[in-house]
This record gives sequence, structure tokens and C-alpha cells, in this order.
Amino acid sequence: MKAEIPNRGYRLVELPDILSRNELESGMHTAWAGSTIICLDSIDSTNEQAKRMAEEGAPHGLIVVAEEQTAGRGRRGRNWASPAGKNLYFSLLLRPDFAPSQASMLTLVMALAVRDAMEECYQAGAGIKWPNDIVLNGKKVTGILTEMRLQGETIGHVVIGVGINVKKQTFAEELTHASSLEEELSCEVSRELLFARIMEHFERDYERFCETLDLSGLTEAYNACLVNCKRQVRVLDPAGEFTGLAKGINEKGELLVQTPDGKVHAIYAGEVSVRGIYGYV
Ligand code: BTN
Repeated sequence: MKAEIPNRGYRLVELPDILSRNELESGMHTAWAGSTIICLDSIDSTNEQAKRMAEEGAPHGLIVVAEEQTAGRGRRGRNWASPAGKNLYFSLLLRPDFAPSQASMLTLVMALAVRDAMEECYQAGAGIKWPNDIVLNGKKVTGILTEMRLQGETIGHVVIGVGINVKKQTFAEELTHASSLEEELSCEVSRELLFARIMEHFERDYERFCETLDLSGLTEAYNACLVNCKRQVRVLDPAGEFTGLAKGINEKGELLVQTPDGKVHAIYAGEVSVRGIYGYV
């Protein structure tokens, strides 16, 4: 942003890039995803806030976005560093009427939407590390945390939380494979634009998912950007680690891994994670 100072030439002035509900909504063309957007300066966690609002009756499609999270949460009980002004943190509330066992696939639907939005906006060339990390140049730039609340035997609600590292930043020393979009793409990234395209892709993909209640309509697109595909992976299963060749996902979102004995194992995300044999991917 350039500001003119009379008689003293020009000075570059950094104006804070603050997310606003109007800006988030203005470029977004969806029917229900983001029909209500709650935009907050600071919150413990957008997932927690979406869950609290769900308990109070908030509708399907509500999104909570925050500039900063003071207690951002990652998978497996880890925390998710969430400084202000640098990244995108948002959570989408869904009230599906399908079986709880089908809800775990939604996290893959969101991963594909985020990847495709990055492609549409910036030709990013990002990939998905199974099940739902978005990876650019071998570095993780996005994490997704999906949580479900049961009501008896049916789904009360599902919250899908997305954290995208956007601006250049310093990550904690132990996060050796973390990076940001601007670092990897060497261009300026608009959080509003990316958010709008993600919601459009998600809404479309979600409706596709609902037609079959599995990923059969999305498997091909997902596998085409799966970074693990046709690579040797280490499956970190609490019941015992093993290595094999990743062959893509099936329509349930399970990763198919072929061990040297020729057997193909369908890996369910739950407690299991996957690494490349030489590192993160
Ligand atoms: C991961 O560990 O990879 C998942 C990280 C998910 C972080 C996002 S940021 C928005 C939402 N709110 C949270 O507390 N977590 C998710």
C-alpha cells in the first residue's frame, strides 16, 4: 500500500491485512456453505467456537473464521500455532443426515477442495498427503481437523477445521516440514480469494459425495494429486508398523498399500498415519 506524503516523496506504509466478513463473503458464490459467516479477531479455536454454536442451534453451512487462535488444535492432541494476520483459520459446521461411519470421509473432501482452490487461484501444484495434509514442495502448508458430535446413533454435527499457512513466518524448530504458501509460491496470496474458492469447491464436492455417500465420484481427482501415490510408505499403525507401496485411496477413503508379499492392505485413517520411507512425504 502506497501513501503520499506531500513534499517528501513516497513512503511505503504497511496497512494490516485484516479479514472482514464482507470481504470474505463478497467473492463467494455458494448456496449454503458460508451462508452464515462469523468473523472474529481472536478466539481459542474456531473448531471449539463452531461446536459451541452448534450446541446453540447454529445452521448447516455456518463458518467461523478467526484472525488469531489462542488455543488452536491440531490432530492427535497437538496444538496448532495460530498467530494473527498471517494465516487462514476457519471451521465449517455441517449437519449431515448420513451415518456416522461416513463422516470420516468428509475430511478428504475438504482436502481436495483446498488443493483444487489453490490450483485455481495460484496454479500452486500442491498435493495431498493422505489423508488430509496439503503439501507444497514436500512441505506441509495446511492441516485439517474434523470432529463429530453424535446424538444417539446419528450425527448431531460435524465440524471441519482448516488451518492454512499463508504468509512467510518462522515455525517452531520441531516443525521441520512446515511452510507457507507465500514462501513456497513466491507470490502474494489473498486469504479472501482462497477462502471463497475453497468454499465453492467444497460445496460442489460435498454434493457429489452425498449422491453416493462415498468418495467414488471424487476418487480419481483425489488420487491424481495424492503425493503418496506409487511411493513406498511407512504405515505407522499402533498394532504394528510396516512398509509398502501406496496405490491410492478406495471409495471409502482408505489408503491401499501393497506389501512385498503382494497383499493389499486398506488403511483406515483413524489412529494410523503414513510417512514416506525417507521422511515426511
Ligand atoms: C493438523 O494437525 O494437521 C490439523 C490442524 C487443524 C488446524 C485448524 S485451524 C482452524 C481449526 N481450529 C482449530 O483449533 N484447529 C483447526
